[in-house]
Amino acid sequence: MDRVIRIGLLGCGTVGAGVVTILDRGADDVTARTGARLQITRVAVRDATKVRDLPLPQEIYTEDAMAVVEADDVDLIIEVMGGRDLAATLMRRALELGKPVVTANKELIAHEGPELAELARTAGVDLAFEAAVAGAIPIIKPLKESLAGDRITRVVGILNGTTNYILTRMTEEGAAYTDVLAEAQALGYAEADPTADVGGHDAAAKAAIIASLAFDTTVHAADVFREGIESVSATDIEVADRLGYVIKLLGIASEVDDRVAVRVHPTFLPKEHPLAGVRESFNAIYVEAEAAGELMFYGRGAGSLPTGSAVVGDVIDVARNLMQTARGPIASDHRAKPLRPIEDLQTQYYVLLAVADEPGVLAEVARTFGDHDVSIAQVWQEGSGDTAQLVLITHRSREGDLRACVESLEASSCVRKVTSVLRVESEVWS
Ligand code: NAP
Ligand code: HSE
Repeated sequence: MDRVIRIGLLGCGTVGAGVVTILDRGADDVTARTGARLQITRVAVRDATKVRDLPLPQEIYTEDAMAVVEADDVDLIIEVMGGRDLAATLMRRALELGKPVVTANKELIAHEGPELAELARTAGVDLAFEAAVAGAIPIIKPLKESLAGDRITRVVGILNGTTNYILTRMTEEGAAYTDVLAEAQALGYAEADPTADVGGHDAAAKAAIIASLAFDTTVHAADVFREGIESVSATDIEVADRLGYVIKLLGIASEVDDRVAVRVHPTFLPKEHPLAGVRESFNAIYVEAEAAGELMFYGRGAGSLPTGSAVVGDVIDVARNLMQTARGPIASDHRAKPLRPIEDLQTQYYVLLAVADEPGVLAEVARTFGDHDVSIAQVWQEGSGDTAQLVLITHRSREGDLRACVESLEASSCVRKVTSVLRVESEVWS
């Protein structure tokens, strides 16, 4: 008779329902693959009276999540509740009790992952979080295991589906940010409070997790330089298009001069780059490694079944380990790299200025760039009359110098407004 591995499910919303469905549909395969029957014995939800259209008996739902963690008839915990404090308390307790945990909670892993991993290490059990980054896309395992023999030099990702959807619509329809955001909310792509997505917080959490694994170090979400897409305008998108770029919200993690740099911001990306063709709400992660070269992982970064697929993949790994009284590989942080401040970034910039259309203005703007050691690669003016638009692309410059230059431009009497400043990543793939 097959051994039974009993699962406590914390949360049964979008992802939880996907997990229940996949485990139910694939029960025979799961048993064949693990040598055990996986049975959900308890489910914690906010409202245990709500009738859910899932193949689970109503009496296993409870509102007492800690009771699920501590139950004798639970061997493995799946945390798909979300949030920080309660989820952290529950996961800590599970690990202390020697129960492995599978989670999709990027926010928690990005803030407390190393501490939770240490608890798992001490307890000798697994803590798995494939679903926390880019939903269905296998990226945690490739970084932690498949590429363990290589040296990763850079990871560039489209890590948030909501913002990629918004930027795709703006690019393809010439629409304004606020209109597309409203449309995305109506379609259910964007949350009623879209801050975590459009402000880049969600992508920053995922970038922190990726950077920690890629560079064998510890990067917390708060260490990631972050800018959202709120101020990307239809004009920025149109200028990018004319110059041969698309604008994408990228998470970029790299190792430079023995320091790790992790940033999330809207970026001019050449149209030829493989990530430029990633449209709609899809996610993709582009990995550069010394021996393997360039790799790209592409797929759905969210959704009930796609995210459920990643959770169940982890559950099967963990169940296999439980069957052998073993534990899977643990991420290493042995290189403990210092972080490089954003001011030391070297990249190209796109700057859009509203200027007075008068003699000497271009010369003064050019002088301000030169005074701050920022070299101009391209410049042109659009419109005339009272106020003209000046579009500038710089050569590779230091972020600290560019920022000082922007401050001077803002103080200059001939510059009416510094309308946009965006980074141009023409070298991320060269
Ligand atoms: P969700 O739809 O809001 O579901 C949350 C579930 O947790 C609900 O079943 C809710 O109960 C339950 N819950 C919340 N607070 C609780 C509490 N205090 N005690 C007991 N149960 C509680 O969230 P989700 O979209 O599935 O996301 C879950 C996690 O997966 C989050 O960490 C999220 O970041 C991550 N994730 C989500 C996606 C995605 O596509 N949605 C993708 C990748 C990662 P009720 O049902 O009674 O309200
Ligand atoms: N809100 C996220 C996104 C999905 O838009 O990609 C969960 O990570």
